[in-house]
Amino acid sequence: MCGIIGYTGRRPAGPIVIEGLRRLEYRGYDSAGIALFDSDHELYVAKATGKLDNLDARVEGQLPPAVAGIGHTRWATHGAPTDGNAHPHLDPTGRVAVVHNGIVENFEALRRRFEAQGDRFISDTDTEVIAHLLAERLALGDDLAEAMRVTIPLLEGAQAIVAVSVDDPGRLVAARVGNAGGIVVGYGDGEHFVASDLAALLPHTRRVVFLDPGQIADVRLDGVSYLDAAGHALEKPIELQPFDPVAAVKGRYKHFMLKEIHEQPDVALDGVRGRYSTDPARIELPELAIDRTRLERIQRVVLVGMGTSMHSATVGRHYIERFARIPAEVDNAAEFRYREPVLDDRTLVISVAQSGETVDTLWAMEEARRAGCLQVAICNTPGSQATRVADATVFMRAGPEIAVASTKTMVGSMVALHALALHLGHLRGTLTPDQLSEQVTGALHIPSAIGDALLLEEAIEELAGRYAEYEDFLFLGRGLAYPMALEGALKLKEVSYIHAEGYAAGEMKHGPIALIDEHMPVVAVALDDDLHDKMRSNIEQVKARRGRVIALVTEGDTSLDGVADDVLALPRVLPALQPLVAVIPMQLLSYYIAVRRGADVDQPRNLAKTVTVE
Ligand code: M6R
Repeated sequence: MCGIIGYTGRRPAGPIVIEGLRRLEYRGYDSAGIALFDSDHELYVAKATGKLDNLDARVEGQLPPAVAGIGHTRWATHGAPTDGNAHPHLDPTGRVAVVHNGIVENFEALRRRFEAQGDRFISDTDTEVIAHLLAERLALGDDLAEAMRVTIPLLEGAQAIVAVSVDDPGRLVAARVGNAGGIVVGYGDGEHFVASDLAALLPHTRRVVFLDPGQIADVRLDGVSYLDAAGHALEKPIELQPFDPVAAVKGRYKHFMLKEIHEQPDVALDGVRGRYSTDPARIELPELAIDRTRLERIQRVVLVGMGTSMHSATVGRHYIERFARIPAEVDNAAEFRYREPVLDDRTLVISVAQSGETVDTLWAMEEARRAGCLQVAICNTPGSQATRVADATVFMRAGPEIAVASTKTMVGSMVALHALALHLGHLRGTLTPDQLSEQVTGALHIPSAIGDALLLEEAIEELAGRYAEYEDFLFLGRGLAYPMALEGALKLKEVSYIHAEGYAAGEMKHGPIALIDEHMPVVAVALDDDLHDKMRSNIEQVKARRGRVIALVTEGDTSLDGVADDVLALPRVLPALQPLVAVIPMQLLSYYIAVRRGADVDQPRNLAKTVTVE
């Protein structure tokens, strides 16, 4: 949560910082602010509540010709979204400016200490104490990097911080403390950057260094040095990132969400490329560089994730049980840590995370690390913390996902989980060659099947026009369609602000059926599989209570014609792979309903793309 950008170099810093914020706005958009060194090496600070456009309008024609600066887009934790609470925050003398992601859990005690010695605070944030602490150390003669190093142990909680000081214009000091979102340092030509994530650096450089927890980057015009918490110098090799900057722009689409929905055939293709081959059927996961005997020893699998990633993990649980025949469970990462899970070194923990920085998921991984579990991350973000903690990562290969609502990374993660489960099944001898061949062939067909599912777009846009005014929706599915029902409800809620609930269809008669009437449309996933007849009965139960049903069926299935009010026919794929096509109409329906209702599709209220607070 919150986006951070910093720049030092020979180009005017102001426009670079503002443009970087634009790429980070999806991380938080309650307010934004910048601090730039003007030509007298004093700080020029500007802030504005609301979207970045407000800040842009405020600084138009006023940006000083700065050589360095920092910027921040905020997702409020402490203090309402106001100009005063927007970052950067300054110390009382205005010599130090700080941008921050995370929570200073002991900020009240620190604040009281400063207030007792006469300092005044002008915001309600936890962040402001960091500026006071840094200024205190600078007054004692520390330089900015040392001030940061000494300050960090005084802060409770996980943080990512970037600070500048007028005593050292052109220098940025960044620190990562625990798992509150990343810090990435970018190396340009005669210039350096820091950012909370890679997306902000892509137009400028692909040469980057990620900070690990406890590390500090001292970034100057002429070079970057790294320190650990004890003040020892660190050597950190520069990595070359493969992300394509073009992927982070909207192109011909009105919204990133729509663009990312349309990218899904390519995401599925990238997901199988080089991993699946036929004649004979093979599955290759070279990135799973884990000793074979360790993989063979696994007795149990626990999958964790949050939101959409948890729904993918639920699909992954089916795959692991079905193909690798290992007992598997799935847990909401935020709950997992606090229920004292029973784990050991024969448990494989699979964490699913688009960002690789979701704090709940990182804490679950920490719990697994302490218990000595084997860990595999399913992740979209190279260099992220999840990829560092895990023993191996199977990447989603989805490219940057900018819309706050996840779409293409769900497809990327389900493809990766399918590949992982097949790999484990093959290794452990639980898959026959015929089963492997069937799954591999089926997976290779998925990119074109998703393309066919996207052809429903026009019909769904029309449907959205008829359903956009309803205020409550129910989504139902069984088996592998159950996580799709959960995802359908989540998508609709977050982008259109319509109340929606996802249920396992068998659960409906145990309570939710009381809600059914003509005012509550039901989206029923009734694809052609072993559970189809039971799903059909559930749909009949809804109709008997005057409910309106939108049914997702497999092409050629006419059994719900005249029963459901609206029927959307999806291409036939293997039953195990149905989630990969069923999710497409859910995404499109949410998108077009949200557009109809005039909602802010790419940046829904109250949300942020990467959730780095508990
Ligand atoms: O980056 P992660 O996959 O760990 O994010 C987890 C959730 O915050 C995320 O999936 C969220 O639910 C989606 N953006 C909703 O569309």
